[in-house]
Amino acid sequence: MTTTLIRGAVILTMNAADDILEADVLIIGNRISEIGKDLKCHADRIIEAGGKVMLPGFVQTHIHLCQTLFRGRADDMELIDWLRKRIWPLEAAHNEESIYYSAMLGIGELIRSGTTTILDMETVHHTNSAFQAIEQSGIRAISGKVMMDYGTEVPLALQENTQRSLAESVELLEKWHGAANGRIEYAFCPRFVVSCTEELLIGVRDLAERYGVKIHTHASENREEIAIVEAERGMRNVVYLDHIGLAKPNLILAHSIWLDDEEKRIIKDRGVKLTHCPGSNLKLSSGIADIPDLLARGIPVGIGADGAPCNNNLDMFQEMRLTAYIQKVKHGPAVMNARSVLRMATMGGAEVLGMEDRIGSIEVGKLADLQLLDLEDFHVYPSYDADWFSRVVYAATRGDVDTVIIDGEIVMEAKAVKTIDKARVLNEADRVLRDLLTRI
Ligand code: GUN
Ligand code: FE
Repeated sequence: MTTTLIRGAVILTMNAADDILEADVLIIGNRISEIGKDLKCHADRIIEAGGKVMLPGFVQTHIHLCQTLFRGRADDMELIDWLRKRIWPLEAAHNEESIYYSAMLGIGELIRSGTTTILDMETVHHTNSAFQAIEQSGIRAISGKVMMDYGTEVPLALQENTQRSLAESVELLEKWHGAANGRIEYAFCPRFVVSCTEELLIGVRDLAERYGVKIHTHASENREEIAIVEAERGMRNVVYLDHIGLAKPNLILAHSIWLDDEEKRIIKDRGVKLTHCPGSNLKLSSGIADIPDLLARGIPVGIGADGAPCNNNLDMFQEMRLTAYIQKVKHGPAVMNARSVLRMATMGGAEVLGMEDRIGSIEVGKLADLQLLDLEDFHVYPSYDADWFSRVVYAATRGDVDTVIIDGEIVMEAKAVKTIDKARVLNEADRVLRDLLTRI
């Protein structure tokens, strides 16, 4: 097993005590094996990190890699129109190649900005290509094909037969769940109630239970969306999900802005997890989720950038800043401080994914998923007597990420992603997009 010694960084451990240490970290294989001052040991690789800041890798709990190619192609619209007029036709035009480069582009951006784990929702077809990109890039991911067997203005190519959708999901699950030494997992991804029959949702519920995997869906993001659900199913969105037995600890909902008190109680009582997507929620003018209230109720909440066409970046530094700032307008400046936001971006995300015993903090026994920031720059100085949480969350940017390690592998070094051929991916992204646009 390869051993890696990282010497002398300031470590924001994000352990239960939020300890900040100046210490060495020894990685053996894919795990953190020792943390301490001046570790005396032989290591295959030594990283001199004096003057750098070590953080756990960010955990983004809602991403669409398949949409990265559509960055800038659906600006300034609201959700339902954005989906029907732009995103669905674009997704319908994907082929294996375009999915692969869309995913590689997205993963390149994610690793470059310190994200080491994602919960990802793909499109209806060609999901094997996204998994191949995930496998090759080295990122840790839970992903699944999107499922949609119902709805208005769904392009023909995205309209699924219910049983076929379930069967194809199981095929993908059997191929990819646990792949790459456990770095890859599968999740069932019914898109949202608006595009799913009850038969499909109940099928997902039963299969997820049988295989012991997560269910990821969008819920209560937009007022038009919840009005459609209420008109068609006769209940509020989350009440409906509970009514058909989906509201369980393996359910992860993205957005959850338009919740009433009963829905919040269902989420808490059933152990459902949430993802906050502030950049997407502002740009699609969806609304602002009441995160302080949800956290105060003890509901696990992670952060995700969502897809490139509704953000338009996949950058956790931006999402952390927005998470803090938008709540302050409503609840006052003391709410959502830098430390609590960094916790959401790391351990919070790990808890949402049920991976809190494996990732999310820098502690002995955990998987080695971490990043080193180089904060020797104008915009993050002075460093004297610094509040490290403030410096990282309120001042640092993605350009400050220097090194990223996932599952013990160095996937980025000196600000260059090592597992992805950047020039090729940028070129191919343009080429496959040009082709894709001719298929619309
Ligand atoms: N709701 C259903 N599909 C989507 C999607 O692709 N993105 C977002 N933000 N919300 C959705
Ligand atoms: Fe989304």
